[in-house]
Formats: sequence, structure tokens, C-alpha cells
Amino acid sequence: MLLKKAVVLGTGSYFPERVLSNAELEKIVDTTDEWITSRTGMKERRIAAKEESASDMGAIAAEKAIQNSDVKAEDLDLIICATLTPDHLFPSTACLIQNKIGAKNAAAFDLSAACSGYVYAMMTAKAYVSSGIYKTVLVVATEKISSIIDYTDRATCVLFGDAATATVVAHREHGLEIIHGCLGADGTGADMLIQPAGGSRMPACQESIDQKLHYLRMEGKDVYKHAVRRMEEVAMKCITDVGMKIEDVGYLIPHQANLRIIEGFAKRFQVPQERVIVNIQRYGNTAAASVGIGFDELLNLKKIKEGETVLMVAFGAGLAWGSLLLQRRGS
Ligand code: UT7
Repeated sequence: MLLKKAVVLGTGSYFPERVLSNAELEKIVDTTDEWITSRTGMKERRIAAKEESASDMGAIAAEKAIQNSDVKAEDLDLIICATLTPDHLFPSTACLIQNKIGAKNAAAFDLSAACSGYVYAMMTAKAYVSSGIYKTVLVVATEKISSIIDYTDRATCVLFGDAATATVVAHREHGLEIIHGCLGADGTGADMLIQPAGGSRMPACQESIDQKLHYLRMEGKDVYKHAVRRMEEVAMKCITDVGMKIEDVGYLIPHQANLRIIEGFAKRFQVPQERVIVNIQRYGNTAAASVGIGFDELLNLKKIKEGETVLMVAFGAGLAWGSLLLQRRGS
């Protein structure tokens, strides 16, 4: 089968207005700006309004992405929404976004891959477009992660922020093409990063609420070790699969979970600092949205030249990880 080219047409992101700074967190839990900055690189993060949901934020990002592409909402064939904080367990957040943006011709489903959600969804979009099944696919990654954070737990509440991002992927002969992707998972690590209650394993009940089991739990140190190893492995596989070398990587967009992980990874990958996208200071860890936000920022700089490549790398709960390689070709 002759594979069709899957090209990025446009991106867009949305950030809630409310800024939660390290100084404010110092008043909420037993922490310091010094600890947060030195251990994570984070300075502030955004928090969605009470009435603002993942689909509300995702729809705004989606409208921006559509505006930045040469398509209309009615042209979309499929919407894939990556999120670990859906509006509801069902219906899907993708269906809610479809309605909000008026994409009446689009099929819609959610994809669950936690912090690797954007990369998994982009890979899925590529598969649909390359196979010819769908021509125009909207990927949305949106998180109201503040809705599952325990703001009395200093180990987690300083880390995460809310945001949404969206990308239109379609068949075109020229442009920023998704040339390859690699995904991986290891379910033996499922307990390391988990929202224990609220699903079929442990439905909502008084006991689950009393024990705070609807909040995100993370064994940070263990996750850290796996993140370092898997991000390097999958990034290397992604470039060597297509016969490229480390020096062929133009821009690197790593998942924004910890500045120490990002800097160590970039150093080993020998990508100069100015070519590594870092926004963790402003947004913290936005889970599924993280890599897509970095990609949107990079595209806004309008720096990617003909032949240059972009390598995305994500890691998160599941455990699940992934890498995606793009290259500007013919425009
Ligand atoms: O997005 C999905 C993937 N996620 C990741 O990749 C996250 C990976 N993990 C990490 O980034 C890091 O493990 C964290 C940033 C979560 C934690 O950093 P750490 O250097 O691994 O710290 P730690 O958990 O080992 O804690 C060190 C100390 C502990 O105190 P003791 O036991 O040494 O006395 C913690 O209780 O720091 C304490 N601590 C804090 N202190 C002040 C934990 N959180 C805080 C805090 N403020 N917010």
C-alpha cells in the first residue's frame, strides 16, 4: 500500500488566566520556591476556573489550530482527544469538543496515554492519514489536572498545571511532515503514577473520598528513573529507524515534567540549548498537553527551515512513552 504523507497544517494552545506561583504554594503547603525551582525548574503554572472543563479549554485550542490551518471545522474527518482529566468517563471529551467547534462531519474519540497522550494521538493521526482512511484529523490534548490534585500533598501539588493544545494533521504533498514515530508501554509500572479511584476498579464511594483516592498519586523517584531511561531509548530508536543520527535532530521537544530530566536528556543528545523547547517555568507539567504546547511555541517562532527536523519525546503514566519525528519537506 502506498502511504500518503501526513503533514501538520497548524497548531493552537490555550492557557487559563489564573496563575499559581511558587510563592502562593508556599502559603498552601510546606514548600519553598527554592525547593520547587531547584528540584523541578517550575516557577508558576495555570489553574482553570471552577466552571472551566477540559473540553472547554480543548475547544478553544482547537479553534485556534483550525484558524492557523487552511481548513474549516466541517472539513475535519476525525477528532482524537488525549486527556487524563476528561469532562466525564463518558461520553468522550472528543465528542464534546466536536459539538463545541461545530465539526459535524468528524468522528470523535478519546485516547488514554497520560503524559504521552499528545505523541500517541499524533501517531494515531498519522496512521489514519497515511493509510488514506481519513484526510483531515484534529488532535487535541487538554488537561484540567488541578481537578485531580490534592492541594494538601506537597509532593504532587507543586508539579502540575492546566492547559490545552491542538494540532491539525492532514494529507498534503509538502510541509512539516510526520515521518516516523515509536511508541512503547510497560504496564508493570501502572501503580507508580495513578488515580486509584473513580473507575470500575474502585467506583466513587464515601470510603474512596475519605481516603482521597480520587487524587493523582505518584512515586516521583521511581517515575524519574524510568523517564530518563525510556525517553532516551525511544528517541534514539525513532531517529535510527529512519537512518538519522543525533546530529540530524534540529529541534527537541521533551515532555515538561522536570527541568533536570530535560537538561540531562538534551545534553546526552547533544542538542544545543537554544534548540530545546523548555516552558516548564511558566506552565509546570501539563500532562498530555505538554509536548503539544512546546510544538505550538516552536511553530510560532517560524524558525524551522526546509529539511530541518523536530523530535518530540514523551513519558508518563501507564507506563507509556513515545517519540515522533517530523521534517519540513518541500515548502
Ligand atoms: O509527567 C509524568 C512523568 N513524571 C515525571 O517524570 C516526574 C518524575 N519525578 C520527578 O520529577 C521528581 O522525582 C520530583 C520532582 C517529583 C521529586 O523530586 P525528588 O528530587 O525526586 O524529591 P523526592 O521525592 O525524593 O523528595 C526529597 C525530599 C523529601 O524529603 P525527605 O524525605 O528527604 O526529608 C520530600 O518529602 O523533598 C521533600 N519534598 C518536598 N519538600 C519541599 C517533596 N516535595 C516537596 C515540596 N517542597 N514540594
